[in-house]
Amino acid sequence: MIPSTEIDNGLPLDMVIFGGMGDLAMRKLMPALYMAYLHGNLPATTRILSTGRQDFDRDAYLAHVGEHSRSFISAANFNEKTWDGFLKLLEYVRLDVQAAPSFGALAQASRAGAQRVFYLSTAPTLFTTICDKLAAAGLVDAHSRVVLEKPLGHDLPSAIEINEAVGKHFAESQIYRIDHYLGKETVQNLMVLRFGNSILEPLWRAPNISSVQITVAEEIGVGSRAGFYDSTGAMRDMLQNHLLQLLCIVAMEPPTSLNADAVRDEKLKVLRSLRRFTLADIARDTIRGQYTHGVSGNQEVPGYLEEKNVPADSKTETFVALRAHVDTWRWSKVPFYLRTGKRMQRRSSKIVVEFANPPFPLFPDAPGGVANRLVIELQPEEAIKLQIMAKQPGTGMQMQQVTLNLDLQSAFQQRRAEAYERLLIDVVRGRLTHFMRRDELEAAWAWADPIIEGWGTLGEKPHAYAAGSWGPAESFALLARDGFAWVE
Ligand code: BG6
Repeated sequence: MIPSTEIDNGLPLDMVIFGGMGDLAMRKLMPALYMAYLHGNLPATTRILSTGRQDFDRDAYLAHVGEHSRSFISAANFNEKTWDGFLKLLEYVRLDVQAAPSFGALAQASRAGAQRVFYLSTAPTLFTTICDKLAAAGLVDAHSRVVLEKPLGHDLPSAIEINEAVGKHFAESQIYRIDHYLGKETVQNLMVLRFGNSILEPLWRAPNISSVQITVAEEIGVGSRAGFYDSTGAMRDMLQNHLLQLLCIVAMEPPTSLNADAVRDEKLKVLRSLRRFTLADIARDTIRGQYTHGVSGNQEVPGYLEEKNVPADSKTETFVALRAHVDTWRWSKVPFYLRTGKRMQRRSSKIVVEFANPPFPLFPDAPGGVANRLVIELQPEEAIKLQIMAKQPGTGMQMQQVTLNLDLQSAFQQRRAEAYERLLIDVVRGRLTHFMRRDELEAAWAWADPIIEGWGTLGEKPHAYAAGSWGPAESFALLARDGFAWVE
């Protein structure tokens, strides 16, 4: 028997997934819900109503889930009995969101008096219709929650439009805007590192910190998502959301509590303090790249322009690096270098905080370079490393950089839940801290939009970089100019 946790208000839970046949539902949502079920984190009353356009009955849908979702659950976590129990929670509701005159079929399938969580995992262009029709069918009440998958708009005006449309039917406290990076164990640990320890805080500012680097490098290419990706690019797909959220956690002031609004107020201040880019700043401080044919993971891979569904003259960036500034007392003159790209040498996400070197060179044989760095590795493995100078044993005063390595893998034996599992549990329990508030999302677009527009005005092609490399040479020059270098 799977133990169960009741939700905060004791109501039966109907989780309705729009886009229930989609890629995200199969790869992430179903495995996450299975894991939540396996660990007793779904209320015993849960039912999952998946909607889709296909003319499936329930059995055909369950077979589809078996075929497309099961393989995303690790063998160690999979067992037939639990899987069968999980499938019993699932229903399929055939629904063509655009064509259906009403959501009567869904209203019939959902239990009266249930707490409804609507997970919108469709194109954002459908969000307005979905919310309007849900309300018209009487499915939205004070207990309902809605989860919005990214991309939340294409720019500020489209984000505002979505927020307005959803806001007509749901209060802000009912809206869960997903940025799955906020569900990562390592990202949540960053909050603990900063605010659960007092030793870092006095140093955590200019001029003690000389620069911050945030890298999210992916080994994969655009794969089958080229159609979506080509009208999106790395800025909208990764930097405007995931990297800015990481920057917020690094740069924010200590919140007064872990209450959702207390945390989000502080993140919002960071987003609003981000210096706006002029056209000259864009030309000097941003680098766009596009991967070309190369070798990745020991295999030859095509360049972006050779990928299926990518126009041969596409100028979409698959890589972006830039130098940002947070204009506050704490971060005055500290550059924040952000970088993300597809088809890079390996999957690696890390935050590197570089501390100022000692003001006076006491040791003549100092090796040069940066004496102290805090490296926070987010994925694929979690680690926190502090680089410090030490004396090489011997009769001289030779120094060398050594690393204090906090090995979190061996410190904690506990299971690490995937981001989607953790965030879905948060939704069920009504915890909003790790979701984006409307004003945060809009502030992020307000900063990103002029950069994207500036690229259009400048009209330059992205710099080429070979698949399997660390990006275009220009991105190294961006840091070298200031006397820094990317830490791989
Ligand atoms: C998604 C992007 O938000 O994040 C994808 O749309 C990207 O393009 C993915 O691959 C990366 O997530 P993760 O968790 O693998 O780092």
